[in-house]
Amino acid sequence: NTADKLGRGLLIVFEGLDRAGKSTQCARLVNDLEKRGEKVKHVRFPDRTTPIGKMIDNYLRGESQQEDHVIHLLFSANRWELAATIKAEIAAGTTVIVDRYYYSGCVYSTAKGNPDMDLAWCRHPDEGLPRPDICLFLDLSAAEAAKRGGWGEERYEKKEFQDRVRKLFGTMRESADKDDFVVIDAGKSEEEVADSIKSEVEKVAASLAASKKPLGRVQP
Ligand code: TMP
Ligand code: MG
Repeated sequence: NTADKLGRGLLIVFEGLDRAGKSTQCARLVNDLEKRGEKVKHVRFPDRTTPIGKMIDNYLRGESQQEDHVIHLLFSANRWELAATIKAEIAAGTTVIVDRYYYSGCVYSTAKGNPDMDLAWCRHPDEGLPRPDICLFLDLSAAEAAKRGGWGEERYEKKEFQDRVRKLFGTMRESADKDDFVVIDAGKSEEEVADSIKSEVEKVAASLAASKKPLGRVQP
């Protein structure tokens, strides 16, 4: 298995817009790797179970207001509070699968259009976090997303906002972090998407096993 060949677990991140199928595909990959005898831990951000996560949850459900910088830093702090655990799990040979990470953090905050907060500003607080070995970007066209039905009730789940998020993810996939991303066509069937993900994960596991690359950090 991966841990024996590489000497550590992998850090695998799923990203994409709301309704792209991240949760479904995360669960499938966890299942699949477990069946193959890998140790796997599934994490999602925001992690709404911690005190900081509860503040984020209230904000997303519209029950509280937060200044734009403040909520941005809370999302980042919510990742930092789990960073040491993630590193320890990976060092112990567990593959950690993460539903949303700092890429969402940058893109959703920037999409608000606050003139003091561009992508670069938004990325700073996350510098130094464990760097994903791969970020599987589940890509869904605006038209496909619309077919999947209405958004939920939470803040950000509005067409106009989601369109800005889609554009900014595009920018991010072409900038500092571009080597992290593999784009998966999320408009295909659940089965086909799962197969593409499996083959991308096998590819990255094999190439890392060959290079014995240690877990990285998000670079400035
Ligand atoms: P969820 O639907 O995956 O639970 O995420 C909740 C919302 O929070 C989603 O619209 C994306 C947004 N978000 C941020 O604004 N910043 C972040 O750092 C993260 C992880 C999510
Ligand atoms: Mg959501």
